[in-house]
Amino acid sequence: MSHNIDVSVSLNKRYSIHVEKNVEKAFFDFCADRYSKEKVILVVDEKVYELHETKIESMCSRYFENLFVLKIPQGESSKSLSQWQQLVNEILAEGVERNTPLVAIGGGVTGDLAGYVAASVLRGIPLIHLPTTLLAMVDSSIGGKTGLNHDTGKNLIGAFYQPDAVFADVEFLETLEQREWITGMAEIIKYGAIRSPELFSQLEKLKDNLSADDGEWIEVIRESARIKTDIVQEDTLEAGKRAHLNFGHTFGHALERVAGYGSISHGEAVFAGMIAATYFSKELGHPIDDTVFTPFMSLYKQQIQSFPSQPDKLIEAMKTDKKVKNNIIQLVLLKEWGSPYIKPCTDLSKLKAAWNYTIDQFN
Ligand SMILES: NC(=O)c1ccc[n+]([C@@H]2O[C@H](COP(=O)([O-])OP(=O)(O)OC[C@H]3O[C@@H](n4cnc5c(N)ncnc54)[C@H](O)[C@@H]3O)[C@@H](O)[C@H]2O)c1
Repeated sequence: MSHNIDVSVSLNKRYSIHVEKNVEKAFFDFCADRYSKEKVILVVDEKVYELHETKIESMCSRYFENLFVLKIPQGESSKSLSQWQQLVNEILAEGVERNTPLVAIGGGVTGDLAGYVAASVLRGIPLIHLPTTLLAMVDSSIGGKTGLNHDTGKNLIGAFYQPDAVFADVEFLETLEQREWITGMAEIIKYGAIRSPELFSQLEKLKDNLSADDGEWIEVIRESARIKTDIVQEDTLEAGKRAHLNFGHTFGHALERVAGYGSISHGEAVFAGMIAATYFSKELGHPIDDTVFTPFMSLYKQQIQSFPSQPDKLIEAMKTDKKVKNNIIQLVLLKEWGSPYIKPCTDLSKLKAAWNYTIDQFN
């Protein structure tokens, strides 16, 4: 007789993503259906709170009687253990129950930090994402990754923790700075590359109109959210296909590291990384027309003040990527648009050629 006990637990959780102009009614209906109206915790980016206090308060107080607002400083440095500790302390001191919801209102930094707080307090309280950057709407609020940075690297602490719902209200985008639009656009270009090349032409039309007033943005955000959702549903814990979402990122992370974090934004680095990955794919004989990048080039070139020009340094930085396996860099390449695959990279001369090509494009 076997002494083993087989345990089967499910990670599946259904939740919906609303992308709309003004989500107040949808948010009210959703909360009224599920939670006690006594209290809600809001973890809010301080800049977003300053810009949208009236909207946030009106949306949340329509159903909840008490808003417990916790503001966090804007910027990547908020994804820290000390900021996490401070939020947990304040929430526990305030007193919460297992079903008190926490709403994360801000960009990816707020979502990652607040998500990990929600995952930790009482071993998990309900989480709702209200993403306010383009990047958070199309990427970071979806898929359940939460995280903090550690002195030794980015996103090294965290958990998979799925929200109850995501409400992407494009009205927030009215105050978004151009650089943040461009950062989010890189992830949309990525979805075009790995799943849905039609996005290229849609985005090309929108790139000169960075304003949420254009209803077509809603369509593009919805389509992007749908693609991310499809991929993470197929591979929630990143055992396989989810890695395709890293297209351009292995190159991009190296650029961010060599340039110094902040001097090239994540989106700018990912855009350049996609150019390098596409070049590498073409070198392997895959027939890809990379002129799709041309309409976006000037937008990204304008933003990047100084592009690192040492390919060897960039390759060394790639070797420290989290996704390296047995010392071999794992690249996401394309057989054609919409058809990504993972390729362990052993040919460093091709890698160097890809970097040289990309460096030339930006200098
Ligand atoms: N969890 C995931 O799956 C995932 C995926 C991608 C990225 N990320 C993480 O997301 C973070 C980046 O997210 P981000 O680009 O949204 O950065 P962010 O959260 O730092 O926001 C960027 C800037 O925009 C400001 N801002 C936010 N909303 C605004 C608005 N509506 N109007 C005006 N200003 C606004 C913020 O104050 C901040 O200064 C990184 O930490 C990254 O690691 C996570």
